[in-house]
Amino acid sequence: MDLQGKGALVTGAAGGIGLAVVRALRTQGVRVAVADRDVSGVEAEAHLPGDLLDPAYADALPGAALAALGRLDIVVNNAGVITRGQVTETTDADWALSLGVNVEAPFRVCRAAIPLMAASGGGAIVNVASCWGLHPGPNHAVYCMTKAALASLTQCMGMDHAPQGIRINAVCPNEVNTPMLRTGFARRGFDPDKAVAQLGTTVPLGRIAEPEDIADVILFLASDAARYMVGALVEVNGGKAVA
Ligand SMILES: NC(=O)c1ccc[n+]([C@@H]2O[C@H](COP(=O)([O-])OP(=O)(O)OC[C@H]3O[C@@H](n4cnc5c(N)ncnc54)[C@H](O)[C@@H]3O)[C@@H](O)[C@H]2O)c1
Repeated sequence: MDLQGKGALVTGAAGGIGLAVVRALRTQGVRVAVADRDVSGVEAEAHLPGDLLDPAYADALPGAALAALGRLDIVVNNAGVITRGQVTETTDADWALSLGVNVEAPFRVCRAAIPLMAASGGGAIVNVASCWGLHPGPNHAVYCMTKAALASLTQCMGMDHAPQGIRINAVCPNEVNTPMLRTGFARRGFDPDKAVAQLGTTVPLGRIAEPEDIADVILFLASDAARYMVGALVEVNGGKAVA
């Protein structure tokens, strides 16, 4: 890939997919600024801890990454939260958290990053949406809606900012073996290893995704190999449709 020497900001960098993205980018010679609530355990060129629910923090992140790295070519909006349940079981707190992290934060980060990237000739933004935002899934109504919103934002921003040399695309995984999925199983009383293996039998490829399976597609979308891709919603699902 052609990523050597570029600068990247990754949100949710301490999580399952985020950590894999940071490692994959750094392997390609990218200098990475990592954002999450606690990034102390993440190896990177710049550490920008904070809470994405704080508008001032989200607004300032791209500028802080640019200041720390000297350039900002790639932004990966990966942080996310999942709330379960039908609308009738969704609390106001679930609603605010889901919209705040999954929709408002990427909006704020993109709004701040786009002018900075445009001023230096362009770049690539990759948003982490979900298959569960492209197709309806049971029992996660608000989560699915937030990922649909992020997918739509990606398509619209892709069109609007391509003339500035900024390619904006999204990766849409199905189930991935990360803390998000595993803690959900544990919370419901299942053994995460057994549940992940069982879930793998429902996937045509025979296993659910590992974080690296998603990180490689994110790297592709961030690289010049995807130079003609704009507003794309790339499903990475091992052949499995949403339930
Ligand atoms: N795991 C899956 O099955 C799956 C499937 C489809 C899409 N996704 C999406 O992939 C992305 C990454 O998820 P993951 O599975 O790696 O989950 P994860 O829980 O391992 O990582 C998410 C990270 O986001 C961070 N984060 C959450 N709220 C934050 C906040 N307010 N401020 C700062 N950071 C915050 C968390 O601290 C965490 O490190 C998410 O957007 C998720 O919706 C995951």
